[in-house]
Amino acid sequence: MKVLVTGGLGYIGSHTCVQMLNAGMEPIIVDNLCNAKIAVLDRIEALTNIRPQFYQGDIRDETFLDDVFSKHAIQSVIHFAGLKAVGESVAKPLEYYDNNVNGSLVLARAMRTAGVKSIIFSSSATVYGDPESVPITESSSVGATTNPYGRSKYMVEGCLTDFYQSQPDWSVTFARYFNPVGAHPSGTMGEDPQGIPNNLMPFIAQVAVGRRDKLSIFGDDYATPDGTGVRDYIHVMDVADGHLVALNRVGQKAGLHIYNLGTGKGSSVIEMLDAFSQACGKPVPYEICPRRPGDIGACWASTEKAEKQLGWKATRSVLEMTADTWHWQSKNPQGY
Ligand code: NAD
Ligand code: UFG
Repeated sequence: MKVLVTGGLGYIGSHTCVQMLNAGMEPIIVDNLCNAKIAVLDRIEALTNIRPQFYQGDIRDETFLDDVFSKHAIQSVIHFAGLKAVGESVAKPLEYYDNNVNGSLVLARAMRTAGVKSIIFSSSATVYGDPESVPITESSSVGATTNPYGRSKYMVEGCLTDFYQSQPDWSVTFARYFNPVGAHPSGTMGEDPQGIPNNLMPFIAQVAVGRRDKLSIFGDDYATPDGTGVRDYIHVMDVADGHLVALNRVGQKAGLHIYNLGTGKGSSVIEMLDAFSQACGKPVPYEICPRRPGDIGACWASTEKAEKQLGWKATRSVLEMTADTWHWQSKNPQGY
């Protein structure tokens, strides 16, 4: 199966491409390298012995996309490309709406021109906002987003839902990721944030490897067992596998398909820190700081729908998430 993968050299996209190649699928990667390095392509090749077709370009460039579609008999699109830093989105809302919303519209138009009717869109648990209750099911209310990044995801879901209503023979899937972490078990691919990491796991990894002094824990007064924030961390390899299952099970089935990609279990910041210390064999220094504005206390997924309808369940443990992150970070202290 030939699949166009936008953002395929990014963190989740690269792990998904490796799993696709291992399964005999043919990813065709489009990435403008705004948040990825070309070295990722070499790492994908080293792991799979296949160098996937790669086009450097921007999904907002319709002529470029038309050209890529005209060169390959593409059956489906996995749409990872987008900007994802919450804080940056507050400072640069126009750039976020342009890249994430406009980029998705241009992509959908190019797909329509090419007659490609299957898309899996990288959405996020952020569309649920501060949930009324946990676990969060796919029918929990959406839209109470708290920043332009989250709104851009919610807006793309809205645009693609309207588009699907007009084209009911399409397969449109929203994969709502919870907190992807971890790295390829080989230690050759992983998350490589530019600048100061926004997210917990890469920050802990950079403290452990000596690039930063200590972790700031944002709040210990939430209504959670140890007071620190609770999230549903999911191994990036499970997220990758979830895409393959979705492609096979619903990617060619007309409909609007919505799935949470999570483990169904929440872990606190302290629990993640402890698991990481175990993985790297030393304590990771931290200090308790005030809450981060916009953060919620606890959030984890209901995985029932994905289990029932896709027959898919995340299998990797928190210890594997931290061990694989440490393997990657210690082998590549400065990233790619
Ligand atoms: P990433 O930044 O590592 O990957 C995104 C890739 O898209 C990068 O390689 C970047 O260069 C590329 N890109 C961005 N804009 C582009 C454009 N206009 N044209 C072409 N390429 C472009 O991010 P990731 O963590 O791999 O996330 C992938 C997707 O999943 C994103 O849409 C993100 O919003 C979503 N998501 C991520 C998380 C997470 O915690 N990582 C959680 C929920 C949702
Ligand atoms: N945290 C710290 N210190 C840090 C970083 C994070 O204590 O340096 C805490 C946060 O307060 C939170 C938890 O660790 O309690 C997780 O924070 P992350 O920033 O790693 O993840 P978030 O759940 O805040 O957000 C992530 C993505 C968003 C996405 C959301 C839901 O960054 O893009 O998951 O999918 F929208």
